[in-house]
Amino acid sequence: MTTLNIDLGERSYPIHIGPGLLARPDLLTGAIGGQNVLIVSNETVAPLYLERVKAALGDYNTQTLVLRDGEQYKTLDELTKIYDKLLELRFDRRCTLIALGGGVIGDMTGFAAASYQRGVNFIQIPTTLLAQVDSSVGGKTGVNHPLGKNMIGAFHQPVAVIADTDSLNTLPDRELRAGLAEVIKYGLLIDFAFFEWLEDNLSGLLQRDTATLSHAIAHCCRIKAQVVANDEREKGQRALLNLGHTFGHAIETGMGYGAWLHGEAVGTGMCMAADLSCRLGRISEADRDRAIALIDAAGLPVKAPSSLTEERFLALMSQDKKVTDKTLNLVLFEQLGHTVLTSDFDDAALRATIRAFTAA
Ligand code: NAD
Ligand code: GLY
Repeated sequence: MTTLNIDLGERSYPIHIGPGLLARPDLLTGAIGGQNVLIVSNETVAPLYLERVKAALGDYNTQTLVLRDGEQYKTLDELTKIYDKLLELRFDRRCTLIALGGGVIGDMTGFAAASYQRGVNFIQIPTTLLAQVDSSVGGKTGVNHPLGKNMIGAFHQPVAVIADTDSLNTLPDRELRAGLAEVIKYGLLIDFAFFEWLEDNLSGLLQRDTATLSHAIAHCCRIKAQVVANDEREKGQRALLNLGHTFGHAIETGMGYGAWLHGEAVGTGMCMAADLSCRLGRISEADRDRAIALIDAAGLPVKAPSSLTEERFLALMSQDKKVTDKTLNLVLFEQLGHTVLTSDFDDAALRATIRAFTAA
């Protein structure tokens, strides 16, 4: 097991990564305050892992809630079921919520924990690659709104993250590839050596080689822990973690939540960010193509849906959280492994990128 620490003063917490961790009750019980625990999962993950986690909790008053599965249920309506359950159970402020699932369950449970009685403990048990390398770490929680992705939420850090790499054995291939988009993101945005390592080790990751996956997960969490410790509330460097996301969120919202997986949309979004950077003369065509080649090799889409028109795409991008005072900010490349958040790009180049990627 690898244990990393995310250093946030009194809100610091451990990230445990390794095989067999669901059979380690000590990792859970060390993080729980009070006696009342609610495990929130979904109808896909619960049959696979819920009983194991519940069993690990021994004498606690452990209750469970199984939500519907899918990005289309990352809504205020579905979230209300968590509050309903907590209130029916009369759980007080000393309760602990456990998110058992992918990023959707993690984000929703985290937001319930942020807001229930103005904030209670929560633990992340991420079961997708995407959640293990990204969403379970750093305390961003929330739900979607029909008009925009992740538009309702809060920062609320978990008290522990327990990433059991064995849980990835049951993950469908498409979900594994979606997770790889966020893995590649770390190399592209901040760590060129890791990008090169990914070029060399992609096949091991796709074949789910345990050591290769564990190395990648720990490396990504190390980067994320550092970035979040430097900039918890996204006043600066943390915004770089959204490389490809403004393009990607436009695809997710425009196509209807769930049609494209988040990781797939981010994969295409990163290709678009590389293309725009190239059009602006920030990176060479060779570097743009190299970035796109790795995303393509990971089995991710590298073209946006042709059903989104240029105007619609731009309108969707203008609703993203990266818009401040009506100015669109994008994460663009200085070089592979080095990115900046900037509004310094011309509209014509952005339109050209959107046209190129949405062309039928
Ligand atoms: P997801 O939560 O929808 O999970 C993907 C699918 O895999 C679901 O059908 C799920 O039921 C299933 N699943 C999960 N674990 C499984 C397992 N071990 N075996 C078999 N099936 C399993 O999607 P995701 O890709 O994990 O997360 C995407 C979400 O995360 C998006 O809503 C995105 O906005 C959010 N996100 C949040 C942050 C953050 O910082 N909070 C960062 C990145 C992404
Ligand atoms: N996934 C972006 C962030 O956590 O900031």
